[in-house]
Amino acid sequence: MSIQYQFDVLIIGTGSAGLMSALQLSTNLSVALIAKDDLLEGSSFYAQGGISAVLDAHDNFKAHVTDTLSTACGLADEKAVSFMVENAPAAIASLEESGVHFTKDNNDYHLTTEGGHTHRRVAHVADKTGQSIQINLLDNVKQRDNITLFEDYIAIDLLVNNGQCFGAYILNKKTHEVENFVTHKTILATGGASKVYRYTSNPDTSTGDGIAMASRAGCCIVNMEFAQFHPTCLYHPHAKSFLISEAIRGEGGKLHLQNGKTFMHKYDERGELAPRDVVARAIDSEMKSGGFDCAYLDISFKGKDWIQQHFPTIYAKCKSFGIDISKTSIPIVPAAHYTCGGIDTNLTGKTNLTNLYAVGEVAHTSVHGANRMASNSLLECIVFAKSCAHDINQQTLDDVFFQSEPWDASRVAASKEKVVVSHLWDEVRSIMWNFVGIVRSDRRLNYAKHRLEQIETEVDEYYSLYVISSDLIELRNLVKTAQIIIKSALSRQESRGLHFNEDHPQQSETAKNTII
Ligand code: FAD
Ligand code: SIN
Repeated sequence: MSIQYQFDVLIIGTGSAGLMSALQLSTNLSVALIAKDDLLEGSSFYAQGGISAVLDAHDNFKAHVTDTLSTACGLADEKAVSFMVENAPAAIASLEESGVHFTKDNNDYHLTTEGGHTHRRVAHVADKTGQSIQINLLDNVKQRDNITLFEDYIAIDLLVNNGQCFGAYILNKKTHEVENFVTHKTILATGGASKVYRYTSNPDTSTGDGIAMASRAGCCIVNMEFAQFHPTCLYHPHAKSFLISEAIRGEGGKLHLQNGKTFMHKYDERGELAPRDVVARAIDSEMKSGGFDCAYLDISFKGKDWIQQHFPTIYAKCKSFGIDISKTSIPIVPAAHYTCGGIDTNLTGKTNLTNLYAVGEVAHTSVHGANRMASNSLLECIVFAKSCAHDINQQTLDDVFFQSEPWDASRVAASKEKVVVSHLWDEVRSIMWNFVGIVRSDRRLNYAKHRLEQIETEVDEYYSLYVISSDLIELRNLVKTAQIIIKSALSRQESRGLHFNEDHPQQSETAKNTII
């Protein structure tokens, strides 16, 4: 007999979006908080640069809104952006209440800057902002009696009846049993989908699960062609997914090629601090035209003491690979970093499926448009987690729960063909990197589309024959998400922000969202 839980609220994901949502829910609601991996694992933990907010007397909301809208290339919604920006100081206060100590100069925040910002407005905890946020939020969550944590539980699909979501089927990775979580409200906080690309700054959790589950359940998925590539990830054969924060460029770091030549001035008058789409494309173009494996980022001129104080994690990590960044430049390449599109929501995280919410990177709240500005993501997570929880707190929840069908595993067998799953994982990620990357063309997108159709058939067949596993669940979601990205990219017959198609290099006169 399979286990069936009943909770008022199910939150899938323990990144900053999931943890803050849980903390803001009323303590008389029973809450299940699940993570498919370690509770701290997820992009939030690795956030370096910081979180943006107007915290300086010389800065103002209007400037933060204008910078965000301009970076978003016409596709962000001013109302949503204003909502996020105006709630940013309160978001910082909530983090401080939970125990996060932002880096200060005397009593003032030490604010840094990154691409697209016209003022210093990025609050940070040295270069381990995400780690501090995660540890403190999780500590607070653990003190709440109404919240039950489930680690190593991976959601498979949402439970849906007549356009209403009432929980999810979830695989307990330790027992290999599928358990039903029946709930009144479900919040997807599963993060992004950058793992769909072969090279990424993201941890292994970013496989687009929430987007794929929501799409299968009938949610609107918006603007998925806008996959953000971070310009500077460490280029080293043994470095997996290590980011070199944009804050290094914010503090004067210079990009150059193997021959020492700088190049950003050729692409944008803002140079190294142009928005990410511009910098990543410039590096890609220089690497391709010069036949280089990487470019370089130099911050050595700041000296060892300053570097160790401001960027201790980056200094130590590079040193562990034999690169002393106080003496030499850092070899870097762009890599997939952030999913700007996602499940369409309103300002309280509501999706078009009744009782289903989405918060954090998984959501499309209309604040990032065609390109997210640096350090606006953690901000989005905190602000929208609070508004989502507030919306749920105001509702009277039913006493009666839906009845759910137990998971049917009677028609599947143990697989002796696991190599199929690992092969298809690699293939999907290579196709996306090679054909749906920083620079696209109609031919490459169509090739990717056709091959993904074949892979989808192969995965569906495997899924119907063999016992479910975590790798298989994620592969099915990677395929679904990749297909949505490709379909969205093919339907955008222009170049805008992060989507550059050499067959349609111009920007169209009207800015429209892509809705799948
Ligand atoms: P995540 O933190 O990714 O958490 C996702 C959670 O969902 C995890 O707990 C995971 O286990 C769980 N999950 C996923 N699928 C399932 C499933 N099927 N079942 C159960 N659980 C599931 N943004 C900034 O604003 N400032 C920065 O300085 C910054 N630096 C960054 C540096 C790096 C290296 C990276 C990768 C990103 C950075 N970003 C930054 C982006 C930002 O960190 C993320 O967008 C944000 O943290 C996402 O938070 P989240 O809660 O939505 O998702
Ligand atoms: C970084 O520190 O460069 C990442 C910032 C972000 O993704 O917003």
